[in-house]
Amino acid sequence: EEGLHPPHYPWSHGGLLDSFDHSSIRRGYQVYREVCAACHSLDRIAWRNLVGVSHSVDEVKAMAEEVEYEDGPNDQGEMFQRPGKLSDYMPPPYPNEEAARASNQGALPPDLSLIVKARHGGPDYIFALLTGYRDAPAGFEIRDGMNYNPYFPGNAISMARVLFDGLVEYEDGTPATTSQMAKDVVTFLNWAAEPEHDERKKAGLKAVILFSALTAISLYVKRYKWAPIK
Ligand code: HEM
Repeated sequence: EEGLHPPHYPWSHGGLLDSFDHSSIRRGYQVYREVCAACHSLDRIAWRNLVGVSHSVDEVKAMAEEVEYEDGPNDQGEMFQRPGKLSDYMPPPYPNEEAARASNQGALPPDLSLIVKARHGGPDYIFALLTGYRDAPAGFEIRDGMNYNPYFPGNAISMARVLFDGLVEYEDGTPATTSQMAKDVVTFLNWAAEPEHDERKKAGLKAVILFSALTAISLYVKRYKWAPIK
């Protein structure tokens, strides 16, 4: 059974020539880190990917260094722990799938790297899902440990509502309402799923300008060459 169709939201990066809102990506990273990262991995994003997108290189280095990574083997054949560096990938919340399921009543929190592309409805769906928790309508049987959400296919999801007003404190002073955090984290996840997005739109604009100019020139040359012929 399909979930409720999500409304279409006016994403600031939605237009043909619109780039991502990078302050929103930065706030969205904070929401991912402080809320979602407890259960969801983000395997395809390395620390270095954040540089110049949401954070400065020094900020990212400092964030990476707070995480311990296993490395090795060293000369003695031993594994060892070291602080993270720019080339490391986002640390997963669980060592493996069994551990992830064991902590989530058998359900598997999916990796969020490509989730915006992987789910029908994309950013609209994920925003609607995060903000759409409510009481089940009378007569809807919901198993223990499951949560009612009309946007989720089948309407019973094992992820509980995670966003509540004031859950995080944004450093830029933006009020952290539920919908603000949902918008920011979805913008962040949308960037994660298509980091080439801004470049792609810029290149598209250049291509349109270039081909328009070439078309104009070729029309002019054609008319000019054919002008003497009656
Ligand atoms: C599933 C996003 C926080 C546990 C999902 C899905 C998304 C998502 C997009 C996939 C839904 C689908 O399959 O269509 C997020 C975001 C979070 C967040 C953006 C932070 C704002 C959490 C947390 C937990 C969690 C903190 C654990 C306490 C799960 C589980 C599923 C899931 C177990 C699988 C649900 C099922 O298949 O029934 N989440 N999540 N999530 N999430 Fe989260």
